[in-house]
Amino acid sequence: MRRMLVDQSDITKTRMEDVPRQDLEPGQVRLQIERFAVTANNVTYAASGFAIGYWKFFPTGIDGQGLLPVWGFAEVVETRSELLEEGARLYGFYPLAEELIITPEEQGPVILDASPHRAALPVVYNRYVRAKARSALDEGMQSLLQPLLATSYLLSDWLQDQQFFGAQQVIVGSASSKTGLGLCLYLAELDPRPVQVIGLTSAGNKGFVEGLGACDAVVTYDEIESLAKLPSVYVDMAGNAEVKQRLHAHLDAELRHSCAVGTSHWDQFRPKQDLAGPKPQFFFAPSQIEKRRADWGPGVIERQIGAAWQRVAERADDWLDLREHQGIDSAEAVYADVAAGRAQPRDGHVIAL
Ligand SMILES: NC(=O)c1ccc[n+]([C@@H]2O[C@H](COP(=O)([O-])OP(=O)(O)OC[C@H]3O[C@@H](n4cnc5c(N)ncnc54)[C@H](OP(=O)(O)O)[C@@H]3O)[C@@H](O)[C@H]2O)c1
Repeated sequence: MRRMLVDQSDITKTRMEDVPRQDLEPGQVRLQIERFAVTANNVTYAASGFAIGYWKFFPTGIDGQGLLPVWGFAEVVETRSELLEEGARLYGFYPLAEELIITPEEQGPVILDASPHRAALPVVYNRYVRAKARSALDEGMQSLLQPLLATSYLLSDWLQDQQFFGAQQVIVGSASSKTGLGLCLYLAELDPRPVQVIGLTSAGNKGFVEGLGACDAVVTYDEIESLAKLPSVYVDMAGNAEVKQRLHAHLDAELRHSCAVGTSHWDQFRPKQDLAGPKPQFFFAPSQIEKRRADWGPGVIERQIGAAWQRVAERADDWLDLREHQGIDSAEAVYADVAAGRAQPRDGHVIAL
């Protein structure tokens, strides 16, 4: 079984490794991983592997070496559980490896991995959804977009729920990221829309964000001081300490809320900062899901999220080129490019095994 190890003290260092296949214990199934996406989100999993605990999902047994979590599809190739038959396909959270052994447990319509080492970890990552065999393109799009656009949609829903904190503009940091552009697209759908949507991005990605047609204005990191001093909300997918410092200093009391979502600029992140204006608050998507379950009853927000990512995926041809790479070894170069910020925002990288 081949897998990609990430050096936990320098996440830009990786190596491929072959390990012997383990025999299944009673109750376990072997999943052959077939397709997964690699984006800045996965690099963030590595960068925050200890702080948030992403290294705990797929332990390697090797000190200082971690397995990168990815979203994708796998097929049951061997089973010692009555719950999953050979040939069943599952969408969910996998290690960057050729296979994963899970201990399935039924939880309503989904399968939970009840392996003891995952018991204390957030359940949202332990759920696997049965999937019908579909085209490579459809599976690639879901691997790439569902986990990111679900967060974009929940952010848009939460901002509306908060009446945009009384702001007149929402500034989306790292607007060329899929999570960032998803938020811009969902905000642009609102009619009436009480806020301006401002995409904040790097100079090289400005044209890409403008091309989405979802922002009222696109501002580069160099131009932060040109932002209108209006009541604002900052939704930050970049996590870049200098950008945050300057944006808070410029808007100061006009910044009504500062929301920390991601660290696509993971190598420019600083966990503690002295900032003007409000203290950034981490956005925890599962809390908004829980709130909407309480507001609207079970199932409603889930259906909205499902419809929302598919709606955007159907029209993604304008801004997304799906790039499928063959074989697990291709993941190393893709990961290196994404981590170094060399990947193009138009490209959606999917590895097929
Ligand atoms: N909290 C949550 O629940 C949650 C959920 C989903 C995603 N997120 C986070 O949102 C962020 C975006 O994830 P994604 O998968 O949507 O990203 P993506 O589509 O892979 O985004 C790529 C963009 O990120 C920026 N970037 C990436 N690597 C960089 C680097 N090394 N240096 C500078 N800029 C870099 C660039 O955008 P710009 O030029 O526009 O900056 C680039 O176009 C991640 O940190 C992810 O973890 C959080």
